[in-house]
Amino acid sequence: MENIKTETDLAIDVLAGLSAPDKYLLSKYFYDDNGSKIFQDIMQMPEYYLTDCELEIFTHNKQEIYQEFTKGNNHFGLIELGAGDGVKTKVLLSHFLKQSCDFEYVPIDISEESVKNLVMELKKELPTLRIDSKVGDYFQMMEDINLYDSTRKILLFLGSNIGNYNRQETLLFLSHLKAVMKSGDLLFIGFDLKKDPDTILKAYNDPYGYTSAFNLNLLQRINRELDASFDLSAFKHQEHYDPKTGTARSELVSLKKQQVEINSLNLTASFEKGEPIFMELSQKYDETSISELAQKSGFQIVRNFFDQRLYYTNSLWKI
Ligand code: AVI
Repeated sequence: MENIKTETDLAIDVLAGLSAPDKYLLSKYFYDDNGSKIFQDIMQMPEYYLTDCELEIFTHNKQEIYQEFTKGNNHFGLIELGAGDGVKTKVLLSHFLKQSCDFEYVPIDISEESVKNLVMELKKELPTLRIDSKVGDYFQMMEDINLYDSTRKILLFLGSNIGNYNRQETLLFLSHLKAVMKSGDLLFIGFDLKKDPDTILKAYNDPYGYTSAFNLNLLQRINRELDASFDLSAFKHQEHYDPKTGTARSELVSLKKQQVEINSLNLTASFEKGEPIFMELSQKYDETSISELAQKSGFQIVRNFFDQRLYYTNSLWKI
């Protein structure tokens, strides 16, 4: 790649994505400071039911979750991958503390800012909680997780974050997790379920424009960090949902024939009118596809917890 002047991960991935025949960008780059703020707004919209569903599941089932997590052994490390603002996890943390169980909470997030804020909040709200936070990529953090080898591990991967991985990435991610888990360890995953397509489309096509701003923010980030010339008003956010496969896909569609210079990459990206950039996958599951995924990746389902509307499930797995 001789024409790259800035060899950051973002630069390499943007070059690959915008040079591909079907253009794409990676949604993991949505979360700069501004993107993380927009995501907070998204999570607070009533249309974005996912957050409320997970909160409802934790609130209604905290004692049963506690019993499944401990099963007579209340000494464990609770490791949350992609902890974000930890609002939902707090329900569990505070309940576990009341049961006087012996655990340490290990939130891991790529955003230093979110981890800092989360730890600050937790210290105020749950002063007796033992916290060992980590900033970084989950995969890099896997090695750190191994440091907890002597302690039983319960891994949390909440918020339907798994839905942002495609099939291959999902299997790879689960195989990485399995590699750091021992007998007795548990994995608790949040899956968004297939449902009325209108409900899903409303969550990602919101009337306030947050999801659109969330997607466009990545173009802004590329303008800033890779010296590019995206005109944000020349792209429109569009959401597609396929009820058969359960894939919700976000795109930014070029509103005109245009060329965009990405100076740090020496790249001119040409767009036809109506040409999409694929931005994000938000995969929806059903019980069959979750079972199949667990089986394929060598896990056994201990129990699925559902919200009342059956919109969402937190699935507890063991190896
Ligand atoms: C973080 N992730 C699970 C969200 C989702 O639902 O796919 C990101 C998101 N994109 C648009 N709205 C929310």
